[in-house]
Amino acid sequence: MQGLVKQIDEAVAVIRSRWPGTPKAGLILGTGLGGLAEQVNHKIVIPYSEIPHFPTSTVQSHAGQLVCGELCGIPIVAMEGRFHFYEGYSMQQVTFPVRVMKSLGADTLVVTNAAGGMNPHFKLSDVVVIDDHINLMGDNPLRGVNDDKLGPRFPDMCEPYSRELSAIALQSALELGITAHKGVFVAVTGPNLETRAEYRMLRGMGADVVGMSTVPEVIVAVHAGLRVLGFSIVTDICLPDALEPVDIQKILAVAAKGGEKLSRLIPKVFENLKSA
Ligand code: HPA
Repeated sequence: MQGLVKQIDEAVAVIRSRWPGTPKAGLILGTGLGGLAEQVNHKIVIPYSEIPHFPTSTVQSHAGQLVCGELCGIPIVAMEGRFHFYEGYSMQQVTFPVRVMKSLGADTLVVTNAAGGMNPHFKLSDVVVIDDHINLMGDNPLRGVNDDKLGPRFPDMCEPYSRELSAIALQSALELGITAHKGVFVAVTGPNLETRAEYRMLRGMGADVVGMSTVPEVIVAVHAGLRVLGFSIVTDICLPDALEPVDIQKILAVAAKGGEKLSRLIPKVFENLKSA
């Protein structure tokens, strides 16, 4: 654990040597959702390969770089490309960047992902503001010795996603005319998509959207005392009785459409936060 704090310090030192800002928020941009990074002003881009202890992203649709700068005048760091458990990384590796964001000074984490929509009211490319989650990944990034300097042994999970930020996000979507739902996100390991029986089970346990990411990062964010705002984009419709084979190209095309919505919505949330 001593080792983890040292690793965080080393990553922070390299980022600080390249970018003098103190981020208010950290952003994690999911599969096909990197468009927002283009709106970052006074941008410094650091490839993950140049940050100590950052794993390197292996997924094609993920750029693998940390974008530092300002969004709506607010200093932020954004991950263009995240690490997935299914790529073979440990939960600690997947969540390391969240520790670094916190240590840089961020108090808020905004996470986005592409997800399968199981709620029959949801349509392709709809925005879902994540209201709560279910961890079905069979692992936990906090497993092992706890370092009290990083957070409590038994972090509370009664409100992992800030109700205040979620309300601002839903209001912002309304102002922009973007359809947005509230929903429960369930995380699975992947990399295979679910069977019809699995979608039926996941829906039955109360989930609205399913994906292969986000929950590890949110657990660590809560442990670290960050406020969290989460968004899913519905990239495929997962109704067990009308299931069609997924086509990753189609998913990426829908993600691009959803990403365009998030590129308008997230700055609006930041604007509304400033005046809140
Ligand atoms: N299941 C799991 N992860 C996903 C899905 C899905 O249907 N769609 C996008 N990510």
